[in-house]
Amino acid sequence: MKSNIKTEADIQGMRVAGRLASELLDMLEGKVRPGITTGQIDQWVHDHMVNVQKTIPATLGYAPPGYTPYPASCCTSVNHQVCHGIPGNKLLKNGDIVNIDVTVIKDGYHGDSSRMYIVGEGSIAARRLCETTYDCMWLGIAQIRPGATLGDIGHAIQTHAEKNGFSVVREFCGHGIGKKFHEEPQVLHYGRPGTGEKLVPGMIFTVEPMINAGRREIRELADGWTIVTKDHSLSAQWEHTVLVTETGYEILTQSEGTPAPSRLVTGA
Ligand code: MF3
Ligand code: CO
Ligand code: CO
Repeated sequence: MKSNIKTEADIQGMRVAGRLASELLDMLEGKVRPGITTGQIDQWVHDHMVNVQKTIPATLGYAPPGYTPYPASCCTSVNHQVCHGIPGNKLLKNGDIVNIDVTVIKDGYHGDSSRMYIVGEGSIAARRLCETTYDCMWLGIAQIRPGATLGDIGHAIQTHAEKNGFSVVREFCGHGIGKKFHEEPQVLHYGRPGTGEKLVPGMIFTVEPMINAGRREIRELADGWTIVTKDHSLSAQWEHTVLVTETGYEILTQSEGTPAPSRLVTGA
């Protein structure tokens, strides 16, 4: 299936939704501390969406074919949880790493972003995984320009992850996004240069690599959503929603508090 090209009005709507998603993640900076629960995070996210932003939590009740409706307004994936962790009474403790993934709907448009949060003081191994995964996301994004291919993105991510001794999760990928949460294309986080769909200005998709410290195999928990590493090794993920422009790319999930691009792509 072919990816759709957004209109100027769509792009404007996606900029707004993207900024709002990023502002939710800003709101959480400093709050993810030892002693809080993942359910508390969900409460903050939900209240800020509904009461402050007047956005709709895209994940709440989201039920792709074969899934039960997702019960929360964000995903909180702790330590060996890869993605889709369901917020609840899990207490965060010093040294935990948490991916918080939020998706808002504003005026019909979806904004999807996630960041890693380190609870208290992270171990050197945990910090290295989070930083390497951030660099992976950015090295993938840096490939984006008209004429490049989806395989170029995947290859850049995979090469950097494996060079650092980590592995790339294969079962979940980035995705086109717009009026629908998940659209074409599938953006694999591994691959070969020059393969796959060619990028065209006006395409919008996410780049959201899931990188494991150990082996790449995963398992789904009995809740029907939470994905964990089979070997219980730590896993990290970062996500931006990105527009393909005439000359390169524009990050749509940007706000005051967005972390600076990786030095591996700015050369700083
Ligand atoms: N936000 C996730 C993504 O990046 C999807 C979460 S779907 C949910 O695609 F139902 F698990 F929340
Ligand atoms: Co996404
Ligand atoms: Co997401």
